[in-house]
Amino acid sequence: MASERRTPTRGRHSVARATVWVLFAVTSLATILYGLKVIAGVTVPGLYVRVLPELSDGVKVGLLWLPTAGLVIALLRRKPAGSQAPVPEAEAFAPPAGEDGGPIVVARSLTKVYDTGAIRVSALQGIDLAIEKGEMVAIMGPSGCGKTTLLNVLSGIDDASSGEVLIGSRSLGRMTDNEKTDFRANRIGFVFQSYNLLPVLSAVENVELPLLVLGRNPADARERALRALEAVGLTGEADKRPMEMSGGQQQRVAIARALVNDPDIVFADEPTGNLDSDTSADVVALLRRLNREMGRTFLIVTHDPEVSRATGRIVHMRNGRIERELRMGG
Ligand SMILES: Nc1ncnc2c1ncn2[C@@H]1O[C@H](COP(=O)(O)OP(=O)(O)O)[C@@H](O)[C@H]1O
Ligand SMILES: [Mg+2]
Repeated sequence: MASERRTPTRGRHSVARATVWVLFAVTSLATILYGLKVIAGVTVPGLYVRVLPELSDGVKVGLLWLPTAGLVIALLRRKPAGSQAPVPEAEAFAPPAGEDGGPIVVARSLTKVYDTGAIRVSALQGIDLAIEKGEMVAIMGPSGCGKTTLLNVLSGIDDASSGEVLIGSRSLGRMTDNEKTDFRANRIGFVFQSYNLLPVLSAVENVELPLLVLGRNPADARERALRALEAVGLTGEADKRPMEMSGGQQQRVAIARALVNDPDIVFADEPTGNLDSDTSADVVALLRRLNREMGRTFLIVTHDPEVSRATGRIVHMRNGRIERELRMGG
């Protein structure tokens, strides 16, 4: 699993190394040209001027030392072929969020301003929030108070205007877009109000899709998808297409898909918003079981008091702020 994750520090190192080599090459060329002029009285017109413009002789002599020192350092640091030290695990990969004992997701002074030119909307106005591993948290509040924006910023789908999001020990703001996409694919599961299943694929094919996109072995992906369907109580429905299933079953498939990559946290936006109350109660019971029995961490945006009652903490938002929090006993 770990070997499939990106190593962002390696990319930075190779850029730094390339920069050093370019500097080294330029100063070496300058030195050779300067040496030719000083020692042999030969100048290469134009090129010499371009490489070493009107610098004082002291600076030119200084430049002579640079490549020499660089060459010495490069020779001293060179290791025999094959002995290159592997990138240490701790440096290459952030520990899975929450595994070092800290919260899975932390938001600090988060703000988000949508600026469409004509209007500016302050959708988030200073959110501080921490979600611990194994928690099930509901976010409630009137329409337009910033709930979806918060989920989008916490998952890196959208950038914050200011403030910070930490997932595990990593800051989303310091990741490139590719790293964020990678991170989401590997660490976060999503459940939407409208299920977002592909109609031409069967249940099991929908569930295994994220794994195939990540380049996992197809047989392994199929096995994990079937296990995820089992966990949501759909063992017998694996070959059905979304059209052949009820809304509640479709949302269960979507929940299985969110869990299949074994994410650190699942973000759900109104997961029962399209369901009638009976089916909704089934889905709530499922989410609760996945949380209590399997230790899954959920952050659920909901209007549904049934859902919020199943969680351990309710965060009430209003006008882009957290108005109050309620912790449930037990
Ligand atoms: N892409 C966007 N561009 C401009 N304004 C937006 C955008 N998305 C959301 N908003 C505005 O930000 C505020 C919060 O929206 P949203 O997070 O969707 O609220 P909620 O999910 O709580 O209903 C609203 O006023 C909404 O109109
Ligand atoms: Mg919303």
